[in-house]
Amino acid sequence: MRTQVAIIGAGPAGMLLAHLLAAEGVESIVLEIRSQAYVAGRIRAGILEQSTVDLLRSAGLGERLDREAFEHRGIYLQWPDERHHLDFVELTGRSVFVYGQTQVQKDLVAAREAAGQEVHYEISDTVLHDLESDEPSVTFTDSSGVAQRVTASVVVGCDGSFGPSRAALPDGVRRSWEKTYPHSWLGILADVAPSTDELIYAWHPDGFALHSMRSSTVSRLYLQVPNGTDAQTWSDDRIWESLATRLGHGEGGWKLTPGPITEKSVLPMRSFVQTPMRHGRLFLAGDSAHIVPPTGAKGLNLAVADVGLLAPALAALLLGGDSRLADAYSETALRRVWRCTHFSWWMTTMLHATGDPFDEQLQLSQLRWVTSSEAGATGLAENYAGLPIGF
Ligand code: FAD
Ligand code: PHB
Repeated sequence: MRTQVAIIGAGPAGMLLAHLLAAEGVESIVLEIRSQAYVAGRIRAGILEQSTVDLLRSAGLGERLDREAFEHRGIYLQWPDERHHLDFVELTGRSVFVYGQTQVQKDLVAAREAAGQEVHYEISDTVLHDLESDEPSVTFTDSSGVAQRVTASVVVGCDGSFGPSRAALPDGVRRSWEKTYPHSWLGILADVAPSTDELIYAWHPDGFALHSMRSSTVSRLYLQVPNGTDAQTWSDDRIWESLATRLGHGEGGWKLTPGPITEKSVLPMRSFVQTPMRHGRLFLAGDSAHIVPPTGAKGLNLAVADVGLLAPALAALLLGGDSRLADAYSETALRRVWRCTHFSWWMTTMLHATGDPFDEQLQLSQLRWVTSSEAGATGLAENYAGLPIGF
């Protein structure tokens, strides 16, 4: 097979890149190890920044989003006996949107299917070749067991945190930074109306809790748990009791309404950045180059921002022979990546219990400042609601 851009990974980064490239008149083939149903069903991100929504709209992907997403003006930040609302619109003029990654993925798959996009699902043995030449390629075994090769002008690794692309950069070229955290999140989906109009981020001595949502009838909630926790050891009753305690059920008349839990899983937390995001004819985008802990709601938004930069850069390179944007891609993308890496680390550090009484006092002091000073609140709002795509 031959195409202009071989894209590894059919998650949001890969599918959106294929979509944006097609709009520029650039052909691509997408390769994915999982099934289409598996990729579509993964419960992940829930919050889209203003700039992500703007990009999806301008790419013709905003129709269902405009009908179904909830626009939120801000978030609540709280600790025992105090809840504060940060109004991002007032502070920065930008809002955020509740629209699940599963919905974004569904819209992308529908748009790409309608356009006849070539996507190979359930492949195996993905290997990248000749990345420093003008004819890089990817070999794989297709779903029928047949060995295949895609030769392209450019290969883009959109294969997430476990894919092979990032390791395809030579050892002497790549550099990485990593931080693991001593806690994980136990996440649940529940068939119950959210008990809040906007997301609640709660500091509590027992551990962090987050009340998010997917729709007017589906809530998404998280609890800080120790690393290595088995989700099955948390009964539904224990989960709801812990959520009630940490989210402040009964404080100021607020109530958390429990409901049937339909999904339960534990996610570890990691910060990771690999540079450069381009080497020869290989480009990296999304989780393949960087991972953030979910506390800042940045992962999906960063993936979208990467491909928002990359698509016009590849179009200029492949259609007009102009390499300036492609040459600048890694440096430009990494500015935003490091900003979001810092913000996600900062939110995580401010909100998760460590068991250290000194940390606890610093966290409470920071929370008081962020919720009472306009400068503090604006800093959080500007980062959470998102910087412009090209930051
Ligand atoms: P992925 O979605 O991981 O897609 C990569 C694809 O590559 C996968 O489909 C994978 O199967 C495929 N692949 C892997 N290896 C190969 C191979 N060898 N060959 C071919 N294909 C391969 N982000 C936010 O912005 N806001 C949030 O609120 C938020 N909440 C989150 C909550 C949870 C529970 C989790 C887990 C993540 C959350 N994130 C959030 C992060 C967000 O989900 C990711 O950052 C996002 O999925 C990144 O997209 P991606 O396309 O880069 O990678
Ligand atoms: C979610 O709804 O899944 C979600 C929301 C905000 C976060 C993380 C996850 O910071």
